[in-house]
Amino acid sequence: MSYEFILVNPQVAPFVGLIQLNRPKELNALNLQLMGEIKEALLQLDEDENIRAIIITGNDRAFAAGADIKQMAGRNAIDMLKIDQFSTWDSIRKTKKPIIAAVSGFALGGGCELCMLCDMIVASETAQFGQPEINIGVMPGAGGTQRLTRAVGKARAMEMVLTGNFITAEEAREAGLINKVVPVQLYLDEAIKMASKIAEKSPIAVQMAKESVLKAFDTGLQEGLFFERKNFYMLFATEDQKEGMNAFIEKRKPEFKNK
Ligand code: CAA
Repeated sequence: MSYEFILVNPQVAPFVGLIQLNRPKELNALNLQLMGEIKEALLQLDEDENIRAIIITGNDRAFAAGADIKQMAGRNAIDMLKIDQFSTWDSIRKTKKPIIAAVSGFALGGGCELCMLCDMIVASETAQFGQPEINIGVMPGAGGTQRLTRAVGKARAMEMVLTGNFITAEEAREAGLINKVVPVQLYLDEAIKMASKIAEKSPIAVQMAKESVLKAFDTGLQEGLFFERKNFYMLFATEDQKEGMNAFIEKRKPEFKNK
C-alpha cells in the first residue's frame, strides 16, 4: 500500500515495524488523511506474522505539532460530529501489538495525545510535550484531559491544559509520562532497542500483558485483577509457556513460536 503522509518500514529491525510521520513542512500536523494512513498501516503491521513490536516516530524537529489547525479552522460542531475524526484514534487504540513512540521536538496537542496512545514513549532531550489547544480557543479532544491526567497527575495536567505550557523531555520523564530520555541522535535507536527486546518474548504473552495493563485504565481494581488472572491462566494453553518455563529450568534461552 502506498501512503502520502507516512513512510512505513516493515522490518526496521527483526520483527520490528516502523511508521514515520512524513509531513515535515507542517511539523507533521495530523490531518485526517495522515491519521487514516496511520490506522491502515497499524492494521497491516498488527496482522503481519513477522512483526512483534511497532514504533511510531516523526523527525528530529517534530513528532507532531497537533491536529491540523488549517483543516479544522472553518468547521462547525456538526461538521466535527459527522467527521468523527476520533473514531480513527479508537481503532489505533485497538492495536494488539505494543507500540513505542520515538519522539523528538514538538509533541503538542494531538501529537502529545498520539504518543500517549502508544504504550511507551522514548524521547530525545529536545522533545517538548504540551496541550496548547487552549491558545486557539479549544481544548484537547483526543485524550489530553484523560490520559495526561492519569500519567502526570491533576496539578501538572491542569497547568498544561489550562496555560498551554510545554514540559521538557526530562520533566515528562520525572512526571512519569515517558520512559526514557536520550540524546537526539539516539532516540530512534533506543526505541528500536526497546522494541527488539520485546520482540524476543512470546508474542502471545506480550499481547495479553499489554491488554491487561490497558485494562487498568478502564476498570476498577477487582475487575482488573480478575481480567489479569484469566489472561495469566490462558497463557498456560500456549506452547510458549511450556517453552519459556522449560528453558528456564534447562538454563537455556527460550525460542518462542507465538503458539
Ligand atoms: N496545524 C497546521 N499547521 C501547523 C500546525 C498545526 N497544528 N503546527 C504547525 N503548523 C505549520 C505552521 O502553520 C507553519 O506552516 P507555514 O510555514 O505554511 O506557515 C509550519 O507548520 C511551521 O510552523 P511554525 O512556523 O509555526 O514553526 P515555529 O517553529 O515558529 O513554531 C510551534 C512551532 C510552536 C509548534 C507552532 O507551529 C505551533 O504553535 N503550532 C500549533 C500547536 C498547536 O496548537 N497544536 C494543537 C492543535 S489542536 C489539536 O491538536 C486538537 C486535538 O486535541 C486533537
